[in-house]
Amino acid sequence: MNIAAYLAERSKLVDAALDLYTDPARPRREGPRLATAPAHIVEAMRYSLMAGGKRLRPVMVIAAAELFGAPAEQVMPAACALEMIHTYSLIHDDLPCMDDDDLRRGRPTNHKVYGEAVATLAGDSLLTLAFELLGRQALVEGVNPARAARVVAEVAGAAGAAGMVGGQILDLAWEGKGAPAEQLRQIHRLKTGALFSVSLRAGALLAGATDADLACLEAYADHFGLAFQIQDDVLDVVGDAAKTGKGVGRDVKHDKSTYVSLYGLDGARDMARQEVAAAIASLTPFGERACYLVKLARFVVDREG
Ligand code: IPE
Ligand code: IPE
Ligand code: MG
Ligand code: MG
Ligand code: MG
Repeated sequence: MNIAAYLAERSKLVDAALDLYTDPARPRREGPRLATAPAHIVEAMRYSLMAGGKRLRPVMVIAAAELFGAPAEQVMPAACALEMIHTYSLIHDDLPCMDDDDLRRGRPTNHKVYGEAVATLAGDSLLTLAFELLGRQALVEGVNPARAARVVAEVAGAAGAAGMVGGQILDLAWEGKGAPAEQLRQIHRLKTGALFSVSLRAGALLAGATDADLACLEAYADHFGLAFQIQDDVLDVVGDAAKTGKGVGRDVKHDKSTYVSLYGLDGARDMARQEVAAAIASLTPFGERACYLVKLARFVVDREG
């Protein structure tokens, strides 16, 4: 199966589960229940969550689980939790007090439609719903509860001040200042790499991977995350809003430190390709079993959206 077909198939499963997990009519015994939540907040959460997006983080959870023999259904709460955390990060990233963006996933940004207060709260409630789902991951048949508990702690760490939030803080702090190379690498690692890394770890841990397996995936994720954010920086300059679903030229406007501002377009593209090659090399011990992770890494630099 080619990577476009694999992504389409797995994202379809993710979309169906996200729809179910945020459906106010869902019976309580089946999981989180939003029936008693004010309709307005559920609408704002679903507005951003169900707007598409590449679903790469949940697909990473699933691909890692499949690598170690677990089916997608077994890790679906964790997969959806990672997508909810990512979507919350996007809603907050777009706020006027952060990147001040108007377009996301091909739609007006959350705060443009619902206002800043509701957008902030929609992000907050996606984050907390994610942890409700992660808590329930331990109840899924075939899952080791101790491993599921470890996943909750790891996701919290990767999403928080020592992970994604930490990267966002540094990203803002270095606006207009031209971050040096090592600092920029660290910003990209944290704001983007941390969630990819924990997505792979979550899927792998739930499927019974060993510490040696996790170390290989960790190396892959580190290079993958850098390549992904470098390509995001490139697309901010040369991308087409019709394909990326978000504004173009926003980083220059905010004088952000990016791989393009530091190395130029060609330099950034070269570095992204090097990171992809390093990511793929990290998967060597898995052989052909890791073919979708290999294809996902190539997709990162080939993508236009
Ligand atoms: C955008 O992530 C934010 C970054 C970390 C660069 P994606 O490009 O994965 O966004 P969606 O989920 O497809 O909308
Ligand atoms: C954001 O990076 C990373 C997040 C944690 C959301 P960017 O600010 O470059 O993401 P886009 O370009 O707005 O999607
Ligand atoms: Mg940002
Ligand atoms: Mg942004
Ligand atoms: Mg960007």
